[in-house]
Amino acid sequence: TQSLLQFKLVLLGDSAVGKTSLVLRFCKDQYSEQQEPTIGCSFINHNVEIGENEVKLQIWDTAGQERFHSLAPMYYRGAKGALIVYDISSLESFEKAKDWVKELRYQGNPKAKIALVGNKLDLNSKKVDIEVAQNYATKAGLLFYETSAKTGMGVQEVFLGLAQSLPKE
Ligand code: GTP
Repeated sequence: TQSLLQFKLVLLGDSAVGKTSLVLRFCKDQYSEQQEPTIGCSFINHNVEIGENEVKLQIWDTAGQERFHSLAPMYYRGAKGALIVYDISSLESFEKAKDWVKELRYQGNPKAKIALVGNKLDLNSKKVDIEVAQNYATKAGLLFYETSAKTGMGVQEVFLGLAQSLPKE
C-alpha cells in the first residue's frame, strides 16, 4: 500500500559552498558554473520513491551570505532533516558548518536529522580531511557525505539517505 509522506528538508551552510547547486543537481540534474547567490531562500518540491512509499520532499534552500543569517530560523523551523554543507576546499566553511549544527540543535528542532555534506569533491585543492570531518560527524551524531554537485557524485545518496533516515510517523 502506498501512502504519501511529506518531509521538510533545509539546506544550511556558508555562502558559495554549493547548496543551490546540490538542489538543482538532485531535482533537475542541472548544473551551472555561474550559479548566483540565493537571496533569502528558495523552495522546491521533489517527489522520491523510498521503499513502498512515495515521499514528497519540501526542500528549502537558504542563502548563506551573512546578511541573511537572521532569516534562517524562519526557514529551518519545522524541518525534519537538514543538509549542512561545507566546501572541502575551505576550512572556514567547515567551521561554519559546525556553527550551523549548534544553531540548529539549540534553536531549531533538536531532533532534526542532520547530514553533514562536504561538497566540491571534484576540486584538487582539498583542505578538509575526510577523517576529521567523518570523526566530527560520528561524535555529533550526524550522517556524513562527500559530494560534487558538478559531477553529480554522491548527490542522490545524500538526499535519499537523509530521507530514508527520517522517522515515518
Ligand atoms: P549561497 O546561495 O550564497 O548560499 O551559495 P550556495 O551555497 O547556494 O552556492 P551555489 O550553489 O550558488 O554555488 C556557488 C559556486 O560554486 C557556483 O559558481 C557553483 O558553480 C560552484 N559549485 C557548486 N557546487 C560545486 C561543485 O561541486 N564543484 C565545483 N567545482 N564548483 C561548485
